Amino acid sequence: MIPCTGTWQSAPGEVTKAVQHALSVGYKHIDAAYCYANEDEVGAGIAAALKSGAIKREDLFVTTKLWCTYHTRVEEALDKSLKSLGLDYVDLYLMHWPVAMNPHGNHEKFPKLPDGSRDLSLDRPHIDTYLDMEKLLQTGRVKAIGVCNYSVRYLKALLPKVSVMPAVNQIENHPQLPQWEVVEFCKSKGIHVTAYSPLGSTGSPLMELPEVKAVAGKHKTSAGTILLSYHGMTLHVHFYDHFLITQVARGISVLAKSVTPARIEQNRIIVQLDETDMSALNKISQLAPKRYVYPEFGVDFGFPDKQGGIVVV
Ligand SMILES: NC(=O)c1ccc[n+]([C@@H]2O[C@H](COP(=O)([O-])OP(=O)(O)OC[C@H]3O[C@@H](n4cnc5c(N)ncnc54)[C@H](OP(=O)(O)O)[C@@H]3O)[C@@H](O)[C@H]2O)c1
Repeated sequence: MIPCTGTWQSAPGEVTKAVQHALSVGYKHIDAAYCYANEDEVGAGIAAALKSGAIKREDLFVTTKLWCTYHTRVEEALDKSLKSLGLDYVDLYLMHWPVAMNPHGNHEKFPKLPDGSRDLSLDRPHIDTYLDMEKLLQTGRVKAIGVCNYSVRYLKALLPKVSVMPAVNQIENHPQLPQWEVVEFCKSKGIHVTAYSPLGSTGSPLMELPEVKAVAGKHKTSAGTILLSYHGMTLHVHFYDHFLITQVARGISVLAKSVTPARIEQNRIIVQLDETDMSALNKISQLAPKRYVYPEFGVDFGFPDKQGGIVVV
């Protein structure tokens, strides 16, 4: 598994050091976004790591994301992100949420209507935005494109219209929100799933769950390590004269965010979870399912655990 680190909600001044540290201890994937308002700091961390020789550009995988107020200005958004990141290309460009917001509203990123609700551009289909993203592939300035926060319903609307399958669907994912339905659907279509907020986002609340602590105790490791190991383990099993590669956990990549050097290092460690561990972790969502990241767009994005809001698709 390639170690990845996220950059959301990093206070100014923290993220450059965090990115540089991550790249110096072996991380290869940096997850950024225009909306996080820190791509310039992320870029400074990348530049410092490249300059120090910690990593070469060709060994680095940089993801960034198109924000909702730029759905009708895809090329302009990419220009801005590349400039801030100080890069000629990104390895992966993702649509951050499948809903457009008013590009001429009262705020550049989070425009609101007088009643306080988000100023959406519901006449701009997310499919048209994706088709504009496809055109970026010909420029060489994005190596791959994909989506975030797509449910099965949204993917079923999108996929028949595209020429290039999304390489990735980045979604919230952890034992309290395993999202089996969309994970299995993505697997069936060859779309790689990346799990965000694996620790439950700010303050890592999932590390306090007794079920997670119990598995951590069994493996004599931290709750964080268990939560990261939940996603991407493969087990090589000797079977007669063949090696079978069995997905013990869920075969998806995982993005944890930390600005704390010791945690950045710790988050690279994963352990082998067995079926008993996975079954204990999977019981959590049956008892107390919870989604931690759900911005107030007022739109029904088609996730079974979050109904209500405007139905667009
Ligand atoms: N596509 C999307 O819509 C979307 C949405 C959300 C997130 N993401 C991406 O996914 C990344 C990760 O998600 P996230 O930032 O929401 O949450 P997360 O990684 O689940 O949790 C981050 C929190 O856990 C703490 N933490 C990290 N490692 C720890 C450890 N070993 N021990 C104890 N605490 C630890 C961090 O603190 P410190 O930083 O203070 O160490 C921070 O408070 C984001 O940064 C972003 O890149 C994408």
